[in-house]
Amino acid sequence: MGLAEQAVDAANELYGSHPGHRALHTKGSLFTGWFTATGAAAGLTRAIHMQGEPVRATVRFSNGAGAPDAPDYARDARGMAVKLYLPGGDKTDVVAVSNPFFPARTPEDFVELLRARKPDPATGEPDMERLGAFLGAHQEAVPAIQWALAAQPPASYAQVRYFGIHAYKWVAADGSERFVRYRWEPEAGVAEISPEEARERGADYLYEEIAKRVSASPVAFELELQLAAEGDPIDDPTAAWPEERDTVRAGRLEIDGPEPDREQGDDVLVFDPTRVVDGIELSDDPILRFRPSAYSVSVERRSGIPAPAR
Ligand code: HEM
Repeated sequence: MGLAEQAVDAANELYGSHPGHRALHTKGSLFTGWFTATGAAAGLTRAIHMQGEPVRATVRFSNGAGAPDAPDYARDARGMAVKLYLPGGDKTDVVAVSNPFFPARTPEDFVELLRARKPDPATGEPDMERLGAFLGAHQEAVPAIQWALAAQPPASYAQVRYFGIHAYKWVAADGSERFVRYRWEPEAGVAEISPEEARERGADYLYEEIAKRVSASPVAFELELQLAAEGDPIDDPTAAWPEERDTVRAGRLEIDGPEPDREQGDDVLVFDPTRVVDGIELSDDPILRFRPSAYSVSVERRSGIPAPAR
């Protein structure tokens, strides 16, 4: 069996199989919006959506767990996936999560970690022995795991900072190149609540709150770029770049309404971090390169559409 199938199987083993649903980030909700790039972005890439003309967007907020009924108060990563509709009919995706770094450097390690996270069947509790063995052999996973354990529940999907994790190469009109990483900075500010408060707010508190918030007034995020300096790792999603690296405001996303008509009937929506356009190139990060194959397995299982039809 291929590694992509193994990854989706490991997610299903951890969270159960839920026909018709994504294998990870299963619970989510969809919104419409507009993205408008700044002049600074246009100076760094020739990509069409970064030249300053507003482009339509579809945004999906999600919980990381692979189960449609995962309660919003559970300790979890949050996702923000953005699809931009470009002039001429192309699309590009920016996929981000609430954790600043990933717990695995290779797809093989990620599959191993998913397997190690499976609770002990006798107690239903995390299998500390297995997890400990994984961490002992993979020191690079420690920052991400520590971060996940310390994370408090967000007050709102609109009050989370989301990280693109992987490096991309931006190529400007004059041919100059630099590696960047993405962050979505919430204009409403970052806000957390205690686990007790989250539990009181209920299993769907994030899902309900974001719908209410967007219907009252637009929700906005700034796209911030972190620029790599000489020697920063560009192929390692477990390693953050130092906070003091230069940053650039690349654009603003305004989320202005629900998108209830998507993912009905034959409409299959897939957010793929390798769907880039001229002016933006993939780094050699093995996790980034692997993701589309795993997403395709999940898509095929949830929709029947074989890869790479998306
Ligand atoms: C080897 C590493 C990874 C594997 C195997 C994996 C696997 C998956 C799968 C199977 C899905 C469901 C796809 C679908 O049915 O459309 C998914 C969704 C998602 N993943 Fe990953 N993933 C990996 C790494 C990452 C990383 C590094 C990020 C951080 C940027 C990330 C963020 C997301 C988000 C936000 C979604 C939800 C997208 C949506 O709303 O449709 N994943 N992942």
